[in-house]
Amino acid sequence: ASTLGAAAAEKGRYFGTAVAANHLGEAPYVSTLNTEFNSVTPENEMKWDAVKPSRGSFNFANADRIVSHAQSRGMKVRGHTLVWHSQLPSWVGSLGATDLRTAMNNHINQVMGHYKGKIHSWDVVNEAFQDGTSGARRSSPFQDKLGNGFIEEAFRTARAADPAAKLCYNDYNTDGVNAKSNAVYNMVRDFKARGVPIDCVGFQSHFNSASPVPADYQANLQRFADLGVEVQITELDIEGSGTAQANSYGNVVKACLAVTRCTGITVWGVTDKYSWRASGTPLLFDGNYNKKPAYTAVLTAL
Ligand code: XIL
Repeated sequence: ASTLGAAAAEKGRYFGTAVAANHLGEAPYVSTLNTEFNSVTPENEMKWDAVKPSRGSFNFANADRIVSHAQSRGMKVRGHTLVWHSQLPSWVGSLGATDLRTAMNNHINQVMGHYKGKIHSWDVVNEAFQDGTSGARRSSPFQDKLGNGFIEEAFRTARAADPAAKLCYNDYNTDGVNAKSNAVYNMVRDFKARGVPIDCVGFQSHFNSASPVPADYQANLQRFADLGVEVQITELDIEGSGTAQANSYGNVVKACLAVTRCTGITVWGVTDKYSWRASGTPLLFDGNYNKKPAYTAVLTAL
């Protein structure tokens, strides 16, 4: 196949990208998106501060634009994200425990309800663990006020809100075997053992020279898959250029294809010029939408 999406589909996978609603009026952005990708993740538009900046009022307009664009093109949509400490409006952080629990569950019900049947996988909880060697949970309004049980509660609420959506836990710095990924692994193993609904684990896979693709990336994906969950590469970008960057991208694709339950890859943006890593060139298309060596490496590996 001659496009990322079609090549991935031949392997039973999707190949997606983060999309920003404010670029959907730019012709080469849209044509690259439509030609190459068969899944999208709203980059910011489904986050709490985007859909509910103040208590009591929802704004789904920007996220809806992305979802309708995807649906009209037959692309899948990943939902990102429901419960996260970041991009969280201040009104949520200042609630007491009882109100925060209600707000969390309402948020899940209302956002998942709005998109019911349209989302193939939801990042229900994002980035709940600390970096470093402690394996501890990260401090957040949810963790600090509701305790460890907030993650389980969020997944149970999410299952009821849209039973057809796959429910993912998503994080970064969990791409190789390390203390943080061990902590996530232990949580997922516990959820599976106790019947807490979880279907997938997302590996953000933001790589750079200080944090390259780990040598045990495939082994790490495999050990999670062996727990009985799908694994998805959810926010892939790799800083660098040329052959080195291309080789790293190829290795990520090969690792996913080698793991039966690795069901798809999403890169965190269409073009270098809109990457959240403003100083870098971490994506598959340059600022003029030319295919980079990394693009060719991905297509060849698929
Ligand atoms: C980033 C977006 O790309 C930026 O536009 C925004 O300013 C900050 O968030 N982990 C995640 C994503 O789960 O939601 C983040 O996206 C990147 C890190």
